Amino acid sequence: MCGIVGYIGSNNIKKILIDGLKELEYRGYDSAGIAVLNDGKFDSYKATGKLINLEEKTKDFHTKGFAVGIGHTRWATHGKPTELNAHPHIGESSCVVHNGIIENYVALKKELLADGVTFLSQTDTEVIVHLFEKNLKSINNPFEAFKKTLNQLEGAYAILLVTKSEDKTIFFAKHGSPMLIGKNSDKEIFFASSDTPLIGYADEVSYFEDGDYGFVSSDEIIIFNQNNEKIEPIFSKLSQNKLSAQKDGYRFFMEKEIYEQSIVISDTLLGRLKDDEILFDELDDSLFDGINEIKLCACGTSYHSALTATYLFERYAKIKTSIEVASEFRYRKPIMTKDTLFVVISQSGETADTLETLKMAKKAGLKTLVICNVDNSSMVRVADACILTRAGVEKGVASTKAFATQITVFWMLTLFIAKLKNSIPTTEITRQISLIRQIPTSVKVSDSMHERIKRLSKRYLHGHGFFFIGRDVFFPLALEGALKLKEISYLHAEGYPSGEMKHGPIALADPELFTIALLPEHLHYEKAKSNVEELSARDSTICAISALEFDKADDFIKINSCEDYMLEFFEMMVVVQLLSLEISIRLGNDVDMPRNLAKSVTVE
Ligand code: F6R
Repeated sequence: MCGIVGYIGSNNIKKILIDGLKELEYRGYDSAGIAVLNDGKFDSYKATGKLINLEEKTKDFHTKGFAVGIGHTRWATHGKPTELNAHPHIGESSCVVHNGIIENYVALKKELLADGVTFLSQTDTEVIVHLFEKNLKSINNPFEAFKKTLNQLEGAYAILLVTKSEDKTIFFAKHGSPMLIGKNSDKEIFFASSDTPLIGYADEVSYFEDGDYGFVSSDEIIIFNQNNEKIEPIFSKLSQNKLSAQKDGYRFFMEKEIYEQSIVISDTLLGRLKDDEILFDELDDSLFDGINEIKLCACGTSYHSALTATYLFERYAKIKTSIEVASEFRYRKPIMTKDTLFVVISQSGETADTLETLKMAKKAGLKTLVICNVDNSSMVRVADACILTRAGVEKGVASTKAFATQITVFWMLTLFIAKLKNSIPTTEITRQISLIRQIPTSVKVSDSMHERIKRLSKRYLHGHGFFFIGRDVFFPLALEGALKLKEISYLHAEGYPSGEMKHGPIALADPELFTIALLPEHLHYEKAKSNVEELSARDSTICAISALEFDKADDFIKINSCEDYMLEFFEMMVVVQLLSLEISIRLGNDVDMPRNLAKSVTVE
């Protein structure tokens, strides 16, 4: 997602800001910009696309001596990735960069427009700078005006703000999005969204906590916490290893991405939930006019999330839904009717087979929708409509957080269609929306859970295979668990519907066959349990994942008790991801770059 940098000092500020942004490229972005306050004058440059475009634009821009500056890489959420929407956003005498989403920006913008303020962009961020300037006019104290502005904002943010009325200072705030500060013995000050831009520049860094805000100059660092108490920053030495800094201390990107799921799902939800309805500003209600059926098409993990959606769409949105693996669909001369909404799902938006099916559907005159993680990808450009999953860049080849955000989007889309079609009572929509709000908590990794899985993993390094089994939506999750394991451990694993075992696969059961059983308390528990008992009776080694104790299991991983099976789904998703991760680490494999696999499959 977006990246932020800031600098106060007398060195080459343009280079420091742009080099810093380059180190944040891995987070993903579609435009970038910098603003520098030097000698009482602002210079600001923005460019769409890669940083090379910004470098080109700034090639004749040079500063001398002391300057203050901020920079930003933007991953579009509100408004297209255009130059006007790129940060920094400039007011009459101040500018701002922001990472996150201001949820009440529509109301704030309305008030500012009524006051005669002119907006240049479609972003939520621009309200911050105009609100600050309005407050500054009435309060006449930049810090107090900044504080008042923060009190008026709702949502998640990391903000840097620079103003001419305090021209040696950067004002900052962190609430939900990451940010840290660095310093060195030359009294230079650096801000960034992660450690890496500061490596080679700062000696020491201090990480802000949620709710921290304040102002910084070369001479003082003033920080207040969420209770408005002044606090002393705790600085620690900065690691000089860039790759490990990008991993934020985790052993592998995949591990980091599993831990990040709570944050990225919060991003997926931002601005999309009301009490009794789901908002997808990006969708035109007419998309569903004349639609009687949904066809889903995808590959790999994205196929598994789509398979989950088939259960939700039919159960709650009451719309006929079918699904197909893209590589099969494209060559079997399928019948396509215009009352079908064709939906493709893709993390990358570039998978060749999926892209081809999208083109086929368009050619056949069907309405098309893509659920995708990468804005401006080929699929996003081809489809009629797009919902972005907002998982941020996924580096581990084995997909984790992309899957989690896809499922989140599908659950929301189910309720969006249910509301349009009036297929379930509003009270049920309200109930499910309150469950959706709990997903970020359900996917938080607890130390004790991770520790337990780490210990258990040593018993699952051999054997002749794994069966992941589940019923209903836990069947696609079983498929996904098996795929994760085989991708990174190279052990043979299969996902099966629990009820299907007795139709053949159970012949493999013996102590060297490991069954990973998904046993949700709130969905067909008794039926799924008896399927596991059949395997246990044939001496398969059973690892049960459930909120309810299960005495027939050899190993048991307890998830938290949840109100609903969909929250159990998210809890179990984390367990199967961690189990694969720990098995793979014990086997000494390269978790992030497993053999024979590529992150984006752009060939058939
Ligand atoms: C598995 C994995 C792959 C992808 C598949 C489709 O961990 O990452 O199975 O899900 O190659 O890729 P996208 O979603 O980019 O279309």
